Amino acid sequence: MPIQGPETRPVTDFQKILFLNGPNLNLLGAREPDIYGTMALADIERSCAGRAVDLGLSVDFRQSNSESDLIDWIQQSREAHSGIIINPAAYTHSSIAIMDALAMLDMPIIELHLSNIHRRESFRHQSYVSLVATGIICGFGAHGYELALEAMAKLIGTTREA
Ligand code: DQA
Repeated sequence: MPIQGPETRPVTDFQKILFLNGPNLNLLGAREPDIYGTMALADIERSCAGRAVDLGLSVDFRQSNSESDLIDWIQQSREAHSGIIINPAAYTHSSIAIMDALAMLDMPIIELHLSNIHRRESFRHQSYVSLVATGIICGFGAHGYELALEAMAKLIGTTREA
């Protein structure tokens, strides 16, 4: 008999999560490692895939430097996914279009940043995405990616763990 989650959904019934990464995050590891850490995005993706299985989630992990790709993927998630975790990178602070796309969704949205954006330059303190996010995780480096998955699992009720 499958283990039951806190609601009624069995953990074997994996929910699909869209995990989006914005511009310049393809260069993680090489990019300002004192701020963003030394882990490459491919390594973060691998660790998320492992953690997701424990949490009853399957992760669709993507990165683009293009605002339009991110918007297209957000729009398509309405049919395909149960939640979105997004590190919008610099678009956090500039993109009303990404905020508008997220606002159309009827699912949990977690905003994620490796760095603590509130300890940095003042232009990073403003986030359009925060206006539509269910919650925000920032400042925990690569570990924040796993924390976001745990929070998402709790929000959509696939696990007792989070
Ligand atoms: C970031 C923070 C943003 O301000 C910055 O533009 C990034 C990465 C982070 O993960 O800390 O590209 O989203």
